[in-house]
Amino acid sequence: MLLKGKKGLVLSVTNENSIGWAIADAAANHGAEVGVGGQNDKMRGRVEALTEGRPNMKAFTVDFQIDEQIEALVEEVKKTYGGIDFFVHSAAFANRDDLSGRFIDTSRDGFKLALDISAYSLVRMCKALEPIMNEEGSVMALSYLGSVRAVSNYNVMGVAKAALEASVRYLAADLGVKGIRVNTLSPGPINTVAARGVKGLTEMIDYVHERSPLKRRFGQEEVAGSAIYLMSDLSKGVTGQVIYIDNGYNIVGM
Ligand SMILES: NC(=O)c1ccc[n+]([C@@H]2O[C@H](COP(=O)([O-])OP(=O)(O)OC[C@H]3O[C@@H](n4cnc5c(N)ncnc54)[C@H](O)[C@@H]3O)[C@@H](O)[C@H]2O)c1
Repeated sequence: MLLKGKKGLVLSVTNENSIGWAIADAAANHGAEVGVGGQNDKMRGRVEALTEGRPNMKAFTVDFQIDEQIEALVEEVKKTYGGIDFFVHSAAFANRDDLSGRFIDTSRDGFKLALDISAYSLVRMCKALEPIMNEEGSVMALSYLGSVRAVSNYNVMGVAKAALEASVRYLAADLGVKGIRVNTLSPGPINTVAARGVKGLTEMIDYVHERSPLKRRFGQEEVAGSAIYLMSDLSKGVTGQVIYIDNGYNIVGM
């Protein structure tokens, strides 16, 4: 029960395979009150099905591109929980056409869309949630190694993740004054709806599992474990960091 007495939000969840769902589920099992977000009404329906019968979970709706929805969410969260202790940003989007072939072909609109939803949204959400974040709060975002390496087909999403990780460092500096920590979790490839948008996902997963120092499969559960650490007081000296959850793949050279 590492999170007894803590309350927070995990945005967004698509289905039971979502990394956000694994994190929300683990947080609730560790005693937290967890608000779980769906991007729209359809997703909210799925979130409600997942949270049904879980007394310490509640469904919310927010589209990160719609400011009115962000403001309405903050009001609803405030009414429900008062202040919150954690916020998990687990959302990304790019046009499917921009997740295959040559990065150089990315359109201006495709670039803007990917960066807006996948990186700027963290800044926007932190600004909106700052007034209701408790001291000692913890914020985390989900990134991927494509932010620092040129990974085939990851393309514009790699650029968005680089912006996300840089945003985490600036937000850590801004919010550190209030005792709020901001970090990045960087999992290796995991089979989810969003990940399937990247061409060749299955090959990526096999490649990473074969070449990583730890010779076993990893998935949502491993990511959730690190998220619980970051939400809990065990990590109270940790901010602005990127934590890789990829069986160590990121350290391998030849
Ligand atoms: N699956 C992987 O291999 C992997 C690896 C590293 C990082 N990540 C990151 O993990 C996070 C969660 O992705 P996932 O793999 O669990 O996939 P997922 O499809 O289950 O979750 C992605 C979520 O983003 C939401 N989203 C998209 N646009 C949004 C918007 N405008 N407003 C609000 N929500 C929006 C979707 O509704 C969806 O619920 C993403 O940031 C992703 O880039 C995933």
